Amino acid sequence: MSKHKYVHGFTERENRRLLDQATTLVEILHSDTSYPAGSSVLEAGCGIGAQTITLARNSPGARIVSVDIAETSLDAARKLAASEGLQNITFQRADIFDLPFPRESFDHVFVCFVLEHLRNPIEALSCLRAVLKQGGA
Ligand SMILES: C[S@@+](CC[C@H](N)C(=O)[O-])C[C@H]1O[C@@H](n2cnc3c(N)ncnc32)[C@H](O)[C@@H]1O
Repeated sequence: MSKHKYVHGFTERENRRLLDQATTLVEILHSDTSYPAGSSVLEAGCGIGAQTITLARNSPGARIVSVDIAETSLDAARKLAASEGLQNITFQRADIFDLPFPRESFDHVFVCFVLEHLRNPIEALSCLRAVLKQGGA
């Protein structure tokens, strides 16, 4: 487990809350989020995939790599993506503070409802910045 402790638990109730939150806010959060075909997107702290499925649906030609530190959440995310028939997502266990990707690997980074739960969000942003290509967003 990361030394950067995550303050929420990993419970069924929390999973349901994440899905409800993402569904309720989908228009506000994703109305202008669409990535070009062929681009690579890192989603950091994907949880159970509540945002992932919208990202993947809205950008069917992009390659989305969704990471989370919790394997149980990733299992739920994989099931959710499979149930939606989405194929442009790779789920992988990774710690935001120790990402297993070379510098400047991704065209885009998406992070939502994660930084505010971390003890050192500035350091997290710096780690995410390192894997983002120059000029990426
Ligand atoms: C509140 S949830 C949000 C999940 C998702 N982004 C959403 O909007 O539904 C925060 C997620 O960040 C993950 N997380 C916390 N610390 C992390 C770290 N150091 N590296 C990767 N993921 C982490 C947790 O496991 C959890 O799934």
